Amino acid sequence: MEKGTVLLLEKTALKQIEEAKSTEALNNVKNTYLSKKSELSTLTSQIGSLPVEQKKECGQLINSVRQAITQAIEEKMVLLKNQELEEKLEKETIDISLPGKDSNLGSRNPFYVIQDEMVEIFLGMGFEIADGPEVETDLFNFELLNIPKDHPARDMQDTFYINENELLRTHTSPVQARAMKAKKGSPIRMICPGKTYRRDNDDATHSHQFAQIEGLVIDKDINLGHLKATLELFVKKMFGEKREIRLRSSYFPFTEPSVEVDITCANCNGKGCAMCKGTGFIEILGAGMVHPNVLKMNGYDPNQYSGFAFGVGIERLAILRYDIDDIRKIYQNDVRFLQQFKKVS
Ligand code: PHE
Repeated sequence: MEKGTVLLLEKTALKQIEEAKSTEALNNVKNTYLSKKSELSTLTSQIGSLPVEQKKECGQLINSVRQAITQAIEEKMVLLKNQELEEKLEKETIDISLPGKDSNLGSRNPFYVIQDEMVEIFLGMGFEIADGPEVETDLFNFELLNIPKDHPARDMQDTFYINENELLRTHTSPVQARAMKAKKGSPIRMICPGKTYRRDNDDATHSHQFAQIEGLVIDKDINLGHLKATLELFVKKMFGEKREIRLRSSYFPFTEPSVEVDITCANCNGKGCAMCKGTGFIEILGAGMVHPNVLKMNGYDPNQYSGFAFGVGIERLAILRYDIDDIRKIYQNDVRFLQQFKKVS
């Protein structure tokens, strides 16, 4: 047995151990050099047939080589195992600095932004919220509001009739009569937001379905000054301190006197421009002092009580506030339109 062969074997084995890059590769090396079929094992089995003088020396040499290889493998194994564990841990860490997934929050429809704002303003002034049906009777929609069957004022509101006595309410004013009946002669300060319907052809400024907020105040000594102050406060809160209002004489069968309320045009500050058709003002609502006949028909003595009422279109205010060019966009649910109101909702 050549001593040089054994030393060379040790040298190559140690080199391969050093170069092993994974526990798997190291196990292969281990197999090659330490298994029963390895060269070292073959050499060991040959010791017995060596001449006596060589036996001891060769036996010691092979043992020391086996020991050196075993030790080198054990040390390297610890090293590689640690290294592999670290690599695994590294791969499994969660990088919390990654940006999260965008959940794509929606936005509120400008209609509801405006409605909520209006309701808040009136609640702040002490108004209560009242409610009434959208399918109304002729009695509440017209008659109790001083619009008898043959009254020409019925032509002001094209109507969806369901049968002779029932219809889709053309305004929120029937809730005035309902509130008066419910309060049975005691003071009232209420608003009613709700849907209304008219047989209009839909275009950029008309829709067969729209919404109003009705307002009604009844008490002793209520006069036109209260109406004006209330609406002025509302307009300033809604459109800004600089806005002025103007009352223009008008006609509604259920109010006397009746007024249209205009606000100064935001675009030109009242000077007159294309938006306000040169008038400096934009009409926003109808109002007036509750007609004595309406008070009487609904259980209030006009000699003791007086009141004012107003009706304002919600979409109209949204259109004015946000410069919306077509009322239909409010109903169409087009996200490209709605997303523009993310900041305000
Ligand atoms: N109901 C009226 C309309 O729809 C508005 C209005 C309400 C006018 C209350 C006066 C008082 O045109």
